[in-house]
Amino acid sequence: MQITIVKSKEEAGKEAFKYVKEAIEKKEDSVLGLATGSTPEVLYEEMINSDVSFTEATAVNLDEYVGLDSDHPQSYHYFMEDQLFKHKPFKQTFVPDGTLGEEEAIKQYDDILEQHPIDIQVLGIGVNGHIGFNEPGTSFDSTTHKVQLTEETINSNKRYFDSIDDVPKTAYTMGIHSIMKADKIILMAFGKEKAQAIVQSLEGEVTEDVPASILQKHPDLVVILDEEAASELSSAKQ
Ligand code: PGA
Repeated sequence: MQITIVKSKEEAGKEAFKYVKEAIEKKEDSVLGLATGSTPEVLYEEMINSDVSFTEATAVNLDEYVGLDSDHPQSYHYFMEDQLFKHKPFKQTFVPDGTLGEEEAIKQYDDILEQHPIDIQVLGIGVNGHIGFNEPGTSFDSTTHKVQLTEETINSNKRYFDSIDDVPKTAYTMGIHSIMKADKIILMAFGKEKAQAIVQSLEGEVTEDVPASILQKHPDLVVILDEEAASELSSAKQ
């Protein structure tokens, strides 16, 4: 594991972009595992403002709310289109289909992941240590599945909706096993509210109670943190 602590989110975006650029320079048809949420936005800005072309690359996203179609402004399809794809075209992009029934949605996405092994996966982390929508207690062996979102996650995500009642209660997510299969993983976290999840994930016991703790076992994990998110790490306290 390699941990880089930076002064600002913007600097983190530049740092993360170096790895994405390197992957595309090595293989223009790389498969990028992408994430939604506020964390990767700084990376997407770097990608958009760069002269790197992604027209041969494939993007596969972590998750989608059940019941929201791609035109819904709070869907993750829409988020990705708006934040990245409409500015920087990819050869093809995949997000789980929230309009499909459980069985079909899962099979479709597992097939997509099988056909497009991820070269580099970008991750944020939830305040409870979730990755994708894999909430505490999710099996480390999980592949794509339907999840019941925790109260904590629904609360964190209500900022994007008119009211908490509008936040979907279920989602389809890539599983932890699927995430761990990526050749390289870039985990980013910013702000004091992520400090506890970061220390538990990177220095704590590897346990399904803290989904991101499995990342300690990944052979090529890069962690990019601001000082606040890193503040509970023992290395930062010395
Ligand atoms: P955030 O969410 O990037 O909006 O903080 C991360 C997550 O919940 O995985």
